[in-house]
Amino acid sequence: MNEQKLIDIMSTKNYDLIVLTTRLNGAINGITIAWAMQTSIKPLLMTVALSPKRFSYNLVVESNIFALNYIPKDRKDIIGLFGYKSGRQVNKFENIEYFESQTGSPILKDAAAYLDCKVVDIYHSGDHDLFVGEVVEADYKSLDWFQSRDFKKKAA
Ligand SMILES: Cc1cc2nc3c(=O)[nH]c(=O)nc-3n(C[C@H](O)[C@H](O)[C@H](O)COP(=O)(O)O)c2cc1C
Repeated sequence: MNEQKLIDIMSTKNYDLIVLTTRLNGAINGITIAWAMQTSIKPLLMTVALSPKRFSYNLVVESNIFALNYIPKDRKDIIGLFGYKSGRQVNKFENIEYFESQTGSPILKDAAAYLDCKVVDIYHSGDHDLFVGEVVEADYKSLDWFQSRDFKKKAA
């Protein structure tokens, strides 16, 4: 296989940019994710891929809740904050306004939309695990968050 061509293809895909948030008891955290998709209509299921290396991974395994915060196109700073720092080292919510969802996950006030989910299944998938979440609550302010990969140049 031509490795460079594979990298070119994988680098050209567009996808939504999302901050997955969760809460375990008093601890809240968020992580930028690109790998998320709807995998059922009834019930409405969203499946996300999380690496076991992430701080967020254990929080979701233990709490069984996560929320998907869809980030507007002009807030690439949020993608950088949640995607290039770990909650092990920093409190990513220090300067972030949020409210609590029905399940308890923090919802970013700057999110364009959110889906509040309860984990119903976990599957192994290579170096990530797939968390299947049933959506229990949803709301939006705008529907303008679809991103191209140009965020890489702009993220903080
Ligand atoms: C654009 C972008 C997309 C990402 N997508 C994912 C993803 O789908 N799954 C994942 O496990 N990590 C993903 N990451 C990496 C995590 O966001 C990053 O490792 C983060 O610092 C982990 O935070 P945590 O240790 O507080 O959980 C992505 C990072 C960026 C910048």
